[in-house]
Amino acid sequence: MTLKEIRGMMSQYVDNGALRPQDRVGLDAYLRTTDRAGAWPAGAQPFFSGREANINAFRDMLRCMLDGERMNLAFIVHGAPGAGKSALLHQLAADMGGLPEANGQPWLPVRLARSDAASPHAAERAANRAMAARLAQQGAEAIRQAAERAQAVIQRALDDHPEASGARTEALSLVNDLGDGLSDPSGADDRDWRVRDLVDRAGSGVRRTLHGALRRGFGAFGVSMGPAPDLPDEGIADVVAANPGLWQEHKIVFFVDEAQNLNPNSESAKDLLQTIYQGDAGAAVGLCFGGLPDTEDILMKMGISRLPDGRIQGLAPLPVGDAEKVVRRGFKQFGVRGGGGWARPLAERSCGWPQHIQRHLAAALAAIQDAGMDAGRADFAQAVREGDLRREDYYRCRRRSMRDYVDAAVGVSEAFAQMPGGSLRNPEIARAAGLSDDPEGYRDFRLAAIRAGLLAEVADSGGTERYRVPIPSFAAFLREEPLEPIPLLGEPVGAKHPAQRPAN
Ligand SMILES: Nc1ncnc2c1ncn2[C@@H]1O[C@H](COP(=O)(O)OP(=O)(O)O)[C@@H](O)[C@H]1O
Ligand SMILES: [Mg+2]
Repeated sequence: MTLKEIRGMMSQYVDNGALRPQDRVGLDAYLRTTDRAGAWPAGAQPFFSGREANINAFRDMLRCMLDGERMNLAFIVHGAPGAGKSALLHQLAADMGGLPEANGQPWLPVRLARSDAASPHAAERAANRAMAARLAQQGAEAIRQAAERAQAVIQRALDDHPEASGARTEALSLVNDLGDGLSDPSGADDRDWRVRDLVDRAGSGVRRTLHGALRRGFGAFGVSMGPAPDLPDEGIADVVAANPGLWQEHKIVFFVDEAQNLNPNSESAKDLLQTIYQGDAGAAVGLCFGGLPDTEDILMKMGISRLPDGRIQGLAPLPVGDAEKVVRRGFKQFGVRGGGGWARPLAERSCGWPQHIQRHLAAALAAIQDAGMDAGRADFAQAVREGDLRREDYYRCRRRSMRDYVDAAVGVSEAFAQMPGGSLRNPEIARAAGLSDDPEGYRDFRLAAIRAGLLAEVADSGGTERYRVPIPSFAAFLREEPLEPIPLLGEPVGAKHPAQRPAN
């Protein structure tokens, strides 16, 4: 595929509703693990649907990488708990990994633990391991080619060092072991140890050369050498320069989730992220963050600011059609019969909140499983009730997360009840919360409420900050309002009962 063709497909992610490899899960496993995106180590979430605009916005950053840009390659996904940030990050990584190579450079999405986002070597290790996992997946022929490349690097580096012939022979045969061992991640530490031992035993005259050669050659097999001997203080630019096979021959994006918990006072984290963001790492490397709504402020303190348009994506609920797709995908995967009428009312009941959709879907599937996978024989009302209960459980956790402020939160949710769909300013919220105007006390409450999903800042609210409730049903839960009656299967869509609380 030509570069032009690849560029052309960068804004064309479409979700056509078909099942994908990530949807191939067993029913029991699915019912056990629907709570949060992180629970699926393999990455992309079962029945992930919609979010096309967000994915295309991310692809736009990838297009900039194709165009050779190095600066300002950052993307932020933020939203209340359960909005689907982690799920979207998984999907972005899966989508990116599946894009066609440009100029022979594969896309390499790399998950970076928050604690590793302060260390160039930890970042290198994460990237090497991602590269090794990719290689293992590609199979024997790709592994053989990678081994040949690694052996060529080692040969070349040690050609001028006849005194290192022993180390060279050992290193060359180690390459084969590394390739054979790729499918066995449990041996990774043992292999790391053998490589380090080899360098330690080399004579001092050749140690640094050997280290450099192995670092370049072995990265593809997930072995990370760390800093060169006698050079403990490497920055990310040194790390990049040490292994061009990794950084120049791949297009890497680091994914950091729960980024609201990055420490903005950590100089090493700031240094690493800022150097990459400013394009000074020596390669085009992208950053993709997920986090609660205050993530943007935290990153701004770390020097990740003034992002290009479209790079900060706040997650709203899914449109009802996309929520229906989640249910339909689930029903299709598990061979549900006669469930056509269920998708719409379940999607509406969840009001597009991803966390709720998956809970309602799981409750529906459990009921349908009891009826031999025939939805026509399952108790729809009971399934909805069960989904409602799972959602309330979730809200109880959120209320607990605001434990110092439960009364204040109830007061605020009552103030919002007077103005459905409206927004309030800080002084109004402070008054409703029964808190003084003392900025410290109020600010702590506001952060807790934002992180729990009770408040969200209204975008473009002009000079004065205004807040709304991102999930109205959470506010209604805090007010202890009764739920809307359970819909009947086949009841006209949108028949609302005005006196009662919205189900979302
Ligand atoms: N677009 C989506 N389609 C289907 N399910 C989704 C979608 N987004 C999130 N989910 C599901 O909703 C639940 C919560 O999502 P998660 O990503 O963990 O939320 P967050 O990280 O924002 O707290 C998970 O079970 C996840 O699989
Ligand atoms: Mg998450």
